[in-house]
Amino acid sequence: MKTAQVWRIGMKDMQILPAPRQRAHLKKPTWIIVLVSLVSMFLVCAYVYPPHNSAACYVFSSNGCNAFSNWLPPAPVREFTDEEISSRVVIREILNTPPVVPKNPKIAFMFLSPGSLPFEKLWDKFFQFSFVWQGNEDRFSVYVHASKEKPVHVSRYFLNREIRSDKVVWGKISMVDAERRLLTNALKDPDNLHFILLSDSCIPLHDFEYVYNYLMDTNISFIDCFEDPGPHGSGRYSEHMLPEVEKKDFRKGAQWFTMKRQHAIMVMADNLYYSKFRDYCKPGMERNINCYSDEHYLPTFFYMFDPTGIANWSVTHVDWSEGKWHPKSYGAQDITYELMQNITSIAESVHVTSAERKEIQTRSCLWNGNQRPCYLFARKFLPDALDNLMHIFPNYTGI
Ligand SMILES: *[C@@H]1O[C@H](CO)[C@@H](O)[C@H](O)[C@H]1NC(C)=O
Ligand SMILES: *[C@@H]1O[C@H](CO)[C@@H](O)[C@H](O)[C@H]1NC(C)=O
Ligand SMILES: *[C@@H]1O[C@H](CO)[C@@H](O)[C@H](O)[C@H]1NC(C)=O
Ligand SMILES: *[C@@H]1O[C@H](CO)[C@@H](O)[C@H](O)[C@H]1NC(C)=O
Repeated sequence: MKTAQVWRIGMKDMQILPAPRQRAHLKKPTWIIVLVSLVSMFLVCAYVYPPHNSAACYVFSSNGCNAFSNWLPPAPVREFTDEEISSRVVIREILNTPPVVPKNPKIAFMFLSPGSLPFEKLWDKFFQFSFVWQGNEDRFSVYVHASKEKPVHVSRYFLNREIRSDKVVWGKISMVDAERRLLTNALKDPDNLHFILLSDSCIPLHDFEYVYNYLMDTNISFIDCFEDPGPHGSGRYSEHMLPEVEKKDFRKGAQWFTMKRQHAIMVMADNLYYSKFRDYCKPGMERNINCYSDEHYLPTFFYMFDPTGIANWSVTHVDWSEGKWHPKSYGAQDITYELMQNITSIAESVHVTSAERKEIQTRSCLWNGNQRPCYLFARKFLPDALDNLMHIFPNYTGI
């Protein structure tokens, strides 16, 4: 196809440009005409398809291509800054270096909470069953970032698991800072191979074994990511982020991620892209645009550097179907076996854009290429739901 197009453009120019000459020197041997035509065709080809594009190289020999590439105008690729080059080198190195698998691989459960965790008793039950199959060795570690007050614990798994934390303001960069603080602390343990960010309103939907295998037996991170061309997506993008972050790469996603170790280290290593979001993606940024880094930084960052390494959906279920500012909250009266069955059987992720004509993007949740239920956790549950959840937990998880 491309070759055909090149040929057409060449023929057109050949007829227009060399025509007067053809008339003036009618007696000249036809080989001159052929030569002039060929040269002009080559120049047009080479200009339309610069040598880095192989189309021109198919028309002529590859040697000729290389020889001409030195004086042709450079392809319009932006030159990276020193900082970008070093970021890209570091990121590529991290992605090419899988972590050493420890004898006892663990999952880090990282809780982002203002204070005490209303579902600690439920999590306690969840963790108790982690020992059933594999002796007594911990296959998890718990970290709590309590941003407002010191939590009161009811479970031994949570005792003394607070990390040094700081204030978190909803929608501000301090939210991302808290996520990074949790990752840093959890990365200190070389046994942690996968990292889960959870909120105080999250509950487990399956038993420990299921969650452990779901996350450990795959090579991807479950980071939510989609393109929303509407005002609550790309509409939040600021050109101040240029040149490092382009609008075409700007993505959106829920903040509740799970991340493999390499990706967590990538986040640690990043300062350049983080600082762009810190400075130019915040509430009340400009022209009344409210940008929230916790919804855009990681989706954009991973879309740019490892798009095939992320699932594009979050394993934490949330119900936005009511179309309000906040997702549906589940209280005591909502907790039924049927509800839990409904949530745990969902096998398609749904993204709704904020454009005027709301576009609904539905995708099967593919785990190592096979369709599986999407969710391991769910939110938002109200504290009064605890007793009912404790009651049906063995039922819906099948323990
Ligand atoms: C994950 O990647 C490693 C190294 O690339 C590979 O050896 C392993 O089989 C992969 N595991 C899965 C579950 O795909
Ligand atoms: C996630 O989306 C990107 C495109 O944004 C795609 O390349 C990638 O394959 C998707 N990930 C999975 C696991 O399908
Ligand atoms: C469960 O799903 C079914 C079918 O979509 C629906 O009719 C029902 O209302 C749901 N129940 C709960 C408790 O969400
Ligand atoms: C769970 O509860 C539902 C409704 O109360 C019941 O029909 C079902 O048999 C129970 N399942 C298990 C595994 O106990």
